[in-house]
This record gives sequence, structure tokens and C-alpha cells, in this order.
Amino acid sequence: MMGTPHRREAPKKSNDSARLVITTIMGVVFGFFIGVSFPSVSVSKFNLGLTTSVPVSNTNTFAISRPMDPNSSADIKVYVPTNPRGAELLPPGIIVSETDFYLRRLWGDPNEDLPSKPRYLVTFTVGIDQTRNIDAAVKKFSSNFTILLFHYDGKTSEWDQFEWSKRAIHISIRKQTKWWYAKRFLHPDIVASYDYIFIWDEDLGVEHFNAERYIELVKKHGLAISQPGLEPNKGLTWQMTKRRGDSEVHKETEEKPGWCSDPHLPPCAAFVEIMAPVFSRDAWRCVWHMIQNDLVHGWGLDFALRRCVEPAHEKIGVVDSQWIIHQVIPSLGSQSHVEVILHINISFGD
Ligand SMILES: *[C@@H]1O[C@H](CO)[C@@H](O)[C@H](O)[C@H]1NC(C)=O
Ligand SMILES: *[C@@H]1O[C@H](CO)[C@@H](O)[C@H](O)[C@H]1NC(C)=O
Ligand SMILES: *[C@@H]1O[C@H](CO)[C@@H](O)[C@H](O)[C@H]1NC(C)=O
Repeated sequence: MMGTPHRREAPKKSNDSARLVITTIMGVVFGFFIGVSFPSVSVSKFNLGLTTSVPVSNTNTFAISRPMDPNSSADIKVYVPTNPRGAELLPPGIIVSETDFYLRRLWGDPNEDLPSKPRYLVTFTVGIDQTRNIDAAVKKFSSNFTILLFHYDGKTSEWDQFEWSKRAIHISIRKQTKWWYAKRFLHPDIVASYDYIFIWDEDLGVEHFNAERYIELVKKHGLAISQPGLEPNKGLTWQMTKRRGDSEVHKETEEKPGWCSDPHLPPCAAFVEIMAPVFSRDAWRCVWHMIQNDLVHGWGLDFALRRCVEPAHEKIGVVDSQWIIHQVIPSLGSQSHVEVILHINISFGD
């Protein structure tokens, strides 16, 4: 589904086979020494089971993990309660609990796959009608960004007309909204290598937006959850998210009388909308947990974001000097303008 070829090619030349054998042997030797050094390090932490120790290696040598077949007599069970849930039987050295969306080659030395690792992730929930808009948006994000598209109309090959599409990640599932995708595909352990995560609608105008500059400002002002300022448009809009011409960033605002029970609470502060949020890694680790499995349009999520950062009125804000235009093109990918209308009478008392 993520467009990764499954085919594994067998080494063609005998050269390669020889290298594979040598690598394997070296891996075994290396693994043996690691294995030997384990028990002395933390015998107290391990609940040693049956017999001897398992040589464990961090290399790609699968020959080593195979002997962990429970029936193999050379094996032992290592029980480490502090391991991630489900991995308690594994020695810590073998555990990799987080991953990323970096693309790997099918050949060569894995260490050379990634000349540079993107530090940020941007996702758009898209349909084919928005190719022009998304093409323009993607071009505002440098090579420091992994591009991830969620396709809600099942159309993916149409995007190949764009050069960048070949290095983007495409996830295609029909008729879902971006919070459905985010819950399923952006688990914090999956996106753990990214400092910031942009989860954006498809109908945003980005003429006045530069992603690198945006990140600089977010860091400078300590924003864990943010959004670009919105060009005031005709629709019903929160004061908080309107772009201000005279500042880099703002974190609070005045709303209509009676709308804010406290100046530090939404929608006067600690508040961004859900059409173009940007999360720090840590903030996202919290927010992901708050997304209910039946959340469709994201209603209410914006008012609740503040629960994930402390103090929320200082770490949630709007970046004014890198701003976007909300074009309000009705589509599955962008339903947040509907939300604005429905929000007003939902109460979020503690
Ligand atoms: C492992 O051992 C169990 C019981 O000793 C046996 O039922 C099972 O078939 C064995 N599995 C393999 C893969 O040999
Ligand atoms: C990527 O990020 C690094 C570090 O922040 C920065 O120096 C570099 O200019 C960025 N690359 C691009 C293409 O903007
Ligand atoms: C909000 O809901 C309350 C009752 O829960 C109602 O009395 C009030 O009129 C509603 N306000 C608006 C603006 O619809």
C-alpha cells in the first residue's frame, strides 16, 4: 500500500554470495561478542530462563535471529519487563520500537541509502481535483521534508506527472478524512524521527508561506502546536487564527464578549484550528492518543489540543509572518470550515 516493492533480488554474482557469507560470519562473530557481554551488564534486570545466552546482533544478519525458534535448544528466553509491550521476550539490543518513512534501496549498503534524512514530515489529504494546488504547496517544502499524501479518492498514479511524487509516500484509502488517516498511519512511533509534523488540508493557498522559515519561527517562539496565520476571509473565522500584519507570532487574542471564560483558554489562547496544524514530535505523541477512532471531521479536537502542552497558552500559537489563505473549496480533505460553524455551541468544560 505504501508503494514499496516486495521483490527481493537474489545476489547475481558469486562475488555477492561470497560477500554475503562473509558478512554473515562477521555478524555471527560480532553478535557472539555482544551476547557474551550481555549477562555481565545486567543480570539483575533479566529473568534468565533455560540455558545459555542468545547471541544478539544489531546488524542485518537474520541468521542470528532465526535460532531464536523456541524449540532450538541453544536458545534462552530473556524477559525484560521494561521492554515495550509485546517485546518482553526480546533482549533489549534487538529492539527497534520506532520507525520512519525513509525510502530504502533494494541494493547496496543500507548505511548509504540516505545521504540526508528529512527532519520534518508534511501530510496532505488529497483528491485528484486538487493536483495544481497540492503541487504548489509541496514546492514550498524543501528536501528537509518527507511528503506523505493520503488519497481519499483512490487515484494515485495521476500524481506521477509531478517529479516529487516519486519520492513521496502515497497512502490510498477511499473516503476517509484526515484524522482517520492520521490515527492509522501517523502513530508516534512511526513518525518518531521527525521534529515537526504538518497535517494539512488540501485547499490552502501557500503563496506567502515558506516551510523552512516557518520552522525557524516555531523554534524561536517555542511553539509545540501551531498553524500559519489565515488570511482573513469572508467566512466565519476565529479571531485567534487570523493573520496579523504586524507580528511574527501571536499566542492570544480577544474574542466576542462571553466567548472566552478565561483569556488563557480557547478560543482566546491555547488554540489553533485543525485545517493546517503543525505539531512538535512530543506534542504529537500526546495528540495522537487523543484522536478517537470514530473521529471523522475533527470537531472538538482544536479545543482539546491544549491538554497536550503545558503551559498551553505559551506553547500554542499562530505564525503571522508565514501565512496561508484558506480557499474554502468543499471537499473530503477539507472539512474544517464546516467545523467553524458547528463549534460554537459545543462546550468543552473540564
Ligand atoms: C516445538 O516443540 C513443540 C513441543 O515440544 C512441538 O509441539 C512443536 O511442533 C515444535 N515446533 C517445531 C517448529 O518444531
Ligand atoms: C535543511 O535544514 C538544514 C538545517 O536546519 C538547513 O541548514 C538547510 O538549509 C535546509 N535545507 C533546505 C533545502 O532548506
Ligand atoms: C447553545 O446551547 C444552549 C443550550 O445548550 C442554548 O441555550 C443556546 O441558545 C445555544 N447557543 C447558540 C448560539 O446556539
